[in-house]
Amino acid sequence: MMWRLYLLAKLSVMLSFCCFSLYAQQAKIKIDPDRVIDQVDPLIYGSFVEHLGRCIYGGIYEPGSPLADEDGLRQDVLQAVRELGVTILRYPGGNFVSNYHWLDGVGPERKPRLDLAWHVLEPNTFGTNEFMKFIRKVGAEPYFTVNMGTGTIEEAQWWVEYTNVKEGPYYAELRKQHGFPEPYGITFWSLGNEMDGFWQLGHLNAEDYAKKAREAAKLMKATDPSIRLIAAGSSDFRPGADPQHWNRVVLEELKDYVDYIALHMYVGNPDDNYYNFVATPLEMERRTQIVKGLIQQVLWGSRRDRPIYIAWDEYNVWYRARAGEALRGRRALEERYNLEDALVIAGFLNGFIRNADVVKMANLAQLVNVIAPIFTNEQGMFKQTIYYPFQLFARNAHGVALDAFVDGPTYDTEEFFVGLGERTTKLENVPYLDVSVVYDPESGRIVINVVNRHRDQTLTTELVAQEGRFQGPFEVYEVNGPDIKAENDFGVERVKTVRKPDVQVSSARFTYAFPPHSFTQLIGRLVR
Ligand code: AHR
Repeated sequence: MMWRLYLLAKLSVMLSFCCFSLYAQQAKIKIDPDRVIDQVDPLIYGSFVEHLGRCIYGGIYEPGSPLADEDGLRQDVLQAVRELGVTILRYPGGNFVSNYHWLDGVGPERKPRLDLAWHVLEPNTFGTNEFMKFIRKVGAEPYFTVNMGTGTIEEAQWWVEYTNVKEGPYYAELRKQHGFPEPYGITFWSLGNEMDGFWQLGHLNAEDYAKKAREAAKLMKATDPSIRLIAAGSSDFRPGADPQHWNRVVLEELKDYVDYIALHMYVGNPDDNYYNFVATPLEMERRTQIVKGLIQQVLWGSRRDRPIYIAWDEYNVWYRARAGEALRGRRALEERYNLEDALVIAGFLNGFIRNADVVKMANLAQLVNVIAPIFTNEQGMFKQTIYYPFQLFARNAHGVALDAFVDGPTYDTEEFFVGLGERTTKLENVPYLDVSVVYDPESGRIVINVVNRHRDQTLTTELVAQEGRFQGPFEVYEVNGPDIKAENDFGVERVKTVRKPDVQVSSARFTYAFPPHSFTQLIGRLVR
């Protein structure tokens, strides 16, 4: 009897080992350097600075702090932003901008105003010129949003005049009087923020917004024809909203003026369902495809010679600090991130790369303290979990996107809310391995980005070059942590990037074991 039991136990151990090995060796990533999607636009590694909570005051700007430089900018934050590799920064909002008058924030006399979006007193001591000082110190591209809520189209035009016209007209001369003789030449301008949302101050319906934005565009472009405009696309996916109607009307009306349509998306895990949550970036890809179709439809037969692209100019995980006191005031939106959130951000970035032909800008909302990768107090700062995957992408994933073939185990989600209050969705055949590949045809440098969404299992994966061969050593960077809920804090880094031993390879295939709940970036060469 004992002997039989022993055999049975041994058999089941062998069986489970067999199953595990079979399962673990199931995944395959095939990479063909000829299957180019498009150039990855570096502007997909953008972020966002809004007058909100402690993003600016107490975040990037803290005059009088021992950590601030001569311009009142926090030096520890400047350093962390530079290291992050962020390419473009949207400013000054967000909901804030729909009640913001930029003239209040320039020159020697600043006008304090009630910020009606976030319910605080806005001192306006930080404005256009302070932001441009920050921009220059971090080496990013500026991206301004004009007030299409309570603002006028003239006010939008004056702002372009103030920032971009060298001399002559009143507002160009005003900038010079303020001590800034040279124009800034700001290229990117967005025509309002989330104007489809009922929460927006000065919210309009699609038709009224499109007309107002078109007229603002005419004035702004006539002032500086080199600027590139971004239309406010859909952000409202609640039951009853019609986001694609909004996008269609806006594209129709603005197609001769804009270069991008902006989309927004925040995801969350309020039901604590890990597998639903880590699949949410796939919904972003679905929305991307829908809007790509709308763009093609609107441009069909048009004389326009340039495409219209998508700017995901607000995206992130945001669901904890989204009610009551956490939604207003000086400590608003101070979301603390964990490892599963970092995997979601890696998923978003993989998704942008897989849609590199149409997604040409993206802005992680936001940069400091407010749903942000950098978190400060008066004494210092720490890097939240989401900092690390973003940094790896922004610093390394440059080139063309390749359409990799991924074969491996999948799962279906339940029906769930992707974002708070939104309509539900159900995602099928979600691959545990989420992959994007970026390649430089000149040098052969290849960057393979892999999220292993599996919570418990390593996925041992065969990587195959369908043309040429991989040439090592491959550098390996991994973002992971002790468990999916692990967070960072001041002086505590549970989730971060760890450099793993290089992989030596000189053949058309190699095997790599992607650990559970991880993001891995492999950097080597693919030679022909
Ligand atoms: O990023 C936080 C807020 O989210 C922005 O102000 C608004 O545009 C969006 O609703």
